[in-house]
Amino acid sequence: MVTSVPQPTDAELGAAETLFGERLEHAERYVTHLCTTGVEYGLLGPREVPRMWSRHVLNCAVLGPELAEDAEVADVGSGAGLPGIAAALAAPGAHFTLIEPMERRVDWLAEVVGDLGLENIDIIRARAEEVTDEVMADVVTARAVSALKKLIPLTAPLLADDGELLLIKGRSAAEEVDNAAKAVKRFKLQQPTVELLGEDILEEPTTVVRIRRR
Ligand SMILES: C[S@@+](CC[C@H](N)C(=O)[O-])C[C@H]1O[C@@H](n2cnc3c(N)ncnc32)[C@H](O)[C@@H]1O
Repeated sequence: MVTSVPQPTDAELGAAETLFGERLEHAERYVTHLCTTGVEYGLLGPREVPRMWSRHVLNCAVLGPELAEDAEVADVGSGAGLPGIAAALAAPGAHFTLIEPMERRVDWLAEVVGDLGLENIDIIRARAEEVTDEVMADVVTARAVSALKKLIPLTAPLLADDGELLLIKGRSAAEEVDNAAKAVKRFKLQQPTVELLGEDILEEPTTVVRIRRR
Protein backbone atom coordinates (compact mmCIF):
# COMPACT_ATOMS: atom_id res chain seq x y z
CA MET A 1 0.00 0.00 0.00
CA VAL A 2 1.42 3.39 -0.93
CA THR A 3 0.04 6.26 1.14
CA SER A 4 0.94 9.88 0.53
CA VAL A 5 2.05 11.87 3.55
CA PRO A 6 0.29 15.25 3.91
CA GLN A 7 2.25 18.45 4.26
CA PRO A 8 0.94 20.60 7.12
CA THR A 9 -0.97 23.73 6.13
CA ASP A 10 0.60 27.05 7.13
CA ALA A 11 -1.66 27.18 10.21
CA GLU A 12 -0.81 23.60 11.18
CA LEU A 13 2.90 24.26 10.67
CA GLY A 14 2.68 27.33 12.93
CA ALA A 15 0.98 25.29 15.65
CA ALA A 16 3.50 22.47 15.22
CA GLU A 17 6.45 24.88 15.54
CA THR A 18 4.92 26.30 18.73
CA LEU A 19 4.23 22.90 20.27
CA PHE A 20 7.24 20.86 19.15
CA GLY A 21 9.99 23.50 18.93
CA GLU A 22 13.28 21.72 18.33
CA ARG A 23 11.46 18.41 17.93
CA LEU A 24 9.49 19.52 14.87
CA GLU A 25 11.43 17.15 12.62
CA HIS A 26 10.62 14.28 14.97
CA ALA A 27 6.94 15.22 14.77
CA GLU A 28 7.12 15.23 10.96
CA ARG A 29 8.72 11.80 11.04
CA TYR A 30 6.01 10.57 13.45
CA VAL A 31 3.32 11.80 11.04
CA THR A 32 5.07 9.90 8.25
CA HIS A 33 4.99 6.71 10.34
CA LEU A 34 1.29 7.22 11.12
CA CYS A 35 0.37 7.80 7.48
CA THR A 36 2.36 4.84 6.13
CA THR A 37 2.95 1.88 8.45
CA GLY A 38 0.30 3.13 10.91
CA VAL A 39 -2.35 2.85 8.21
CA GLU A 40 -0.88 -0.44 6.91
CA TYR A 41 -1.08 -1.92 10.42
CA GLY A 42 -4.71 -0.78 10.62
CA LEU A 43 -4.04 1.54 13.57
CA LEU A 44 -5.74 4.41 11.77
CA GLY A 45 -8.03 4.38 8.75
CA PRO A 46 -6.80 5.77 5.40
CA ARG A 47 -9.40 8.52 5.64
CA GLU A 48 -7.50 9.96 8.62
CA VAL A 49 -4.39 10.66 6.51
CA PRO A 50 -5.37 14.14 5.24
CA ARG A 51 -6.25 15.23 8.78
CA MET A 52 -3.34 13.52 10.55
CA TRP A 53 -1.81 16.80 11.70
CA SER A 54 -4.93 18.63 12.85
CA ARG A 55 -7.17 15.92 14.20
CA HIS A 56 -4.57 13.58 15.63
CA VAL A 57 -1.04 14.85 16.25
CA LEU A 58 -1.69 18.53 17.09
CA ASN A 59 -4.97 17.70 18.82
CA CYS A 60 -2.99 15.45 21.20
CA ALA A 61 0.21 17.51 21.45
CA VAL A 62 -1.62 20.37 23.21
CA LEU A 63 -1.41 18.22 26.36
CA GLY A 64 2.35 18.86 26.38
CA PRO A 65 2.26 22.42 27.78
CA GLU A 66 -0.10 21.21 30.54
CA LEU A 67 2.59 18.93 31.99
CA ALA A 68 5.16 19.83 34.61
CA GLU A 69 8.76 19.79 33.36
CA ASP A 70 9.58 16.44 35.01
CA ALA A 71 6.09 14.90 35.15
CA GLU A 72 5.61 11.13 35.19
CA VAL A 73 2.83 10.44 32.68
CA ALA A 74 0.93 7.22 31.91
CA ASP A 75 -1.02 7.04 28.64
CA VAL A 76 -3.73 4.37 28.75
CA GLY A 77 -4.74 2.68 25.48
CA SER A 78 -2.09 4.42 23.38
CA GLY A 79 -2.94 2.69 20.10
CA ALA A 80 -0.75 4.51 17.60
CA GLY A 81 0.80 6.69 20.33
CA LEU A 82 -2.09 9.13 20.65
CA PRO A 83 -1.86 11.11 22.79
CA GLY A 84 1.31 9.55 24.32
CA ILE A 85 3.91 10.03 21.59
CA ALA A 86 2.53 13.39 20.41
CA ALA A 87 2.52 14.75 23.97
CA ALA A 88 5.99 13.30 24.67
CA LEU A 89 7.34 15.17 21.64
CA ALA A 90 5.82 18.38 23.03
CA ALA A 91 7.04 17.76 26.60
CA PRO A 92 10.58 16.36 26.31
CA GLY A 93 11.28 16.75 30.05
CA ALA A 94 8.38 14.53 31.07
CA HIS A 95 8.60 10.73 31.14
CA PHE A 96 5.83 8.70 29.50
CA THR A 97 4.68 5.11 29.97
CA LEU A 98 2.47 3.94 27.11
CA ILE A 99 0.07 1.20 28.25
CA GLU A 100 -1.41 -0.82 25.41
CA PRO A 101 -2.58 -4.48 25.47
CA MET A 102 -2.54 -5.35 21.76
CA GLU A 103 0.68 -7.01 20.61
CA ARG A 104 0.59 -5.63 17.08
CA ARG A 105 0.12 -2.09 18.37
CA VAL A 106 2.90 -2.50 20.92
CA ASP A 107 5.26 -3.78 18.20
CA TRP A 108 4.47 -0.75 16.05
CA LEU A 109 4.90 1.63 18.99
CA ALA A 110 8.28 0.11 19.88
CA GLU A 111 9.48 0.44 16.29
CA VAL A 112 8.39 4.09 16.05
CA VAL A 113 9.75 5.11 19.46
CA GLY A 114 13.05 3.41 18.55
CA ASP A 115 13.21 5.08 15.15
CA LEU A 116 12.51 8.51 16.62
CA GLY A 117 15.07 7.88 19.37
CA LEU A 118 12.67 9.01 22.10
CA GLU A 119 14.31 8.23 25.41
CA ASN A 120 11.46 9.68 27.48
CA ILE A 121 9.03 6.87 26.52
CA ASP A 122 8.61 3.33 27.85
CA ILE A 123 5.97 0.90 26.63
CA ILE A 124 4.12 -1.72 28.66
CA ARG A 125 2.04 -4.39 26.96
CA ALA A 126 -0.89 -4.78 29.35
CA ARG A 127 -4.37 -3.67 30.18
CA ALA A 128 -4.45 -0.72 32.55
CA GLU A 129 -6.14 -2.86 35.25
CA GLU A 130 -3.10 -5.19 35.26
CA VAL A 131 -0.48 -2.55 36.08
CA THR A 132 -1.94 -0.72 39.08
CA ASP A 133 0.91 -2.06 41.28
CA GLU A 134 3.70 -0.93 38.97
CA VAL A 135 2.52 2.42 37.59
CA MET A 136 2.10 5.56 39.67
CA ALA A 137 1.80 8.69 37.56
CA ASP A 138 1.46 12.42 38.16
CA VAL A 139 -0.77 12.57 35.10
CA VAL A 140 -2.77 9.86 33.33
CA THR A 141 -3.88 10.57 29.77
CA ALA A 142 -6.22 8.73 27.39
CA ARG A 143 -8.14 9.34 24.18
CA ALA A 144 -10.89 7.26 22.59
CA VAL A 145 -10.61 4.35 25.03
CA SER A 146 -14.09 4.38 26.60
CA ALA A 147 -16.81 6.58 28.06
CA LEU A 148 -15.76 8.51 31.17
CA LYS A 149 -17.67 6.36 33.66
CA LYS A 150 -15.69 3.31 32.48
CA LEU A 151 -12.48 5.23 31.86
CA ILE A 152 -12.19 6.54 35.43
CA PRO A 153 -11.93 3.03 36.94
CA LEU A 154 -9.18 2.23 34.39
CA THR A 155 -7.13 5.38 34.90
CA ALA A 156 -7.64 6.67 38.47
CA PRO A 157 -5.87 3.68 40.14
CA LEU A 158 -2.67 4.67 38.27
CA LEU A 159 -2.61 8.17 39.80
CA ALA A 160 -0.28 9.43 42.52
CA ASP A 161 -2.01 11.11 45.47
CA ASP A 162 -1.82 14.61 44.02
CA GLY A 163 -2.10 13.52 40.39
CA GLU A 164 -4.66 14.36 37.74
CA LEU A 165 -6.39 12.77 34.78
CA LEU A 166 -6.23 14.59 31.42
CA LEU A 167 -8.71 12.81 29.19
CA ILE A 168 -9.28 13.93 25.61
CA LYS A 169 -12.97 13.86 24.78
CA GLY A 170 -15.35 15.03 22.07
CA ARG A 171 -18.54 17.03 22.10
CA SER A 172 -20.18 14.67 24.60
CA ALA A 173 -17.69 15.59 27.35
CA ALA A 174 -20.16 17.41 29.61
CA GLU A 175 -22.72 14.64 29.29
CA GLU A 176 -20.05 12.02 30.08
CA VAL A 177 -19.09 13.98 33.19
CA ASP A 178 -22.72 13.93 34.35
CA ASN A 179 -22.88 10.16 33.78
CA ALA A 180 -19.62 9.55 35.66
CA ALA A 181 -20.67 11.06 39.02
CA LYS A 182 -20.62 7.68 40.84
CA ALA A 183 -17.14 6.81 39.57
CA VAL A 184 -15.83 10.26 40.56
CA LYS A 185 -17.08 9.71 44.09
CA ARG A 186 -15.91 6.09 44.30
CA PHE A 187 -12.34 7.00 43.36
CA LYS A 188 -12.35 10.09 45.62
CA LEU A 189 -11.74 12.55 42.79
CA GLN A 190 -12.55 16.24 42.57
CA GLN A 191 -15.38 17.49 40.38
CA PRO A 192 -14.19 17.17 36.74
CA THR A 193 -13.80 20.28 34.61
CA VAL A 194 -14.24 20.42 30.84
CA GLU A 195 -11.59 22.60 29.20
CA LEU A 196 -10.58 23.64 25.71
CA LEU A 197 -6.84 23.44 24.99
CA GLY A 198 -4.98 25.05 22.10
CA GLU A 199 -7.65 27.68 21.42
CA ASP A 200 -4.99 30.18 20.36
CA ILE A 201 -3.19 27.89 17.90
CA LEU A 202 -5.63 25.22 16.66
CA GLU A 203 -8.54 25.71 14.29
CA GLU A 204 -10.43 23.15 16.37
CA PRO A 205 -9.29 23.22 20.00
CA THR A 206 -9.04 20.00 21.97
CA THR A 207 -11.69 19.21 24.57
CA VAL A 208 -10.17 17.77 27.72
CA VAL A 209 -11.77 16.52 30.91
CA ARG A 210 -9.43 17.34 33.80
CA ILE A 211 -9.96 15.49 37.08
CA ARG A 212 -7.76 15.98 40.13
CA ARG A 213 -7.45 13.72 43.11
CA ARG A 214 -8.96 15.14 46.25
C1 LIG B 1 -9.98 3.27 19.80
S1 LIG B 1 -8.33 2.91 20.29
C2 LIG B 1 -7.70 4.53 20.59
C3 LIG B 1 -6.21 4.58 20.44
C4 LIG B 1 -5.58 5.94 20.71
N1 LIG B 1 -5.70 6.31 22.12
C5 LIG B 1 -6.16 7.03 19.83
O1 LIG B 1 -6.78 7.95 20.35
O2 LIG B 1 -6.00 6.93 18.60
C6 LIG B 1 -8.52 2.25 21.94
C7 LIG B 1 -7.23 1.64 22.45
O3 LIG B 1 -7.40 1.31 23.83
C8 LIG B 1 -6.83 0.05 24.07
N2 LIG B 1 -7.47 -0.50 25.27
C9 LIG B 1 -8.71 -1.01 25.38
N3 LIG B 1 -8.96 -1.41 26.65
C10 LIG B 1 -7.84 -1.13 27.37
C11 LIG B 1 -7.45 -1.33 28.74
N4 LIG B 1 -8.27 -1.89 29.62
N5 LIG B 1 -6.22 -0.91 29.12
C12 LIG B 1 -5.37 -0.34 28.24
N6 LIG B 1 -5.68 -0.15 26.92
C13 LIG B 1 -6.89 -0.54 26.50
C14 LIG B 1 -7.07 -0.73 22.78
O4 LIG B 1 -6.20 -1.83 22.63
C15 LIG B 1 -6.87 0.35 21.74
O5 LIG B 1 -5.53 0.42 21.30
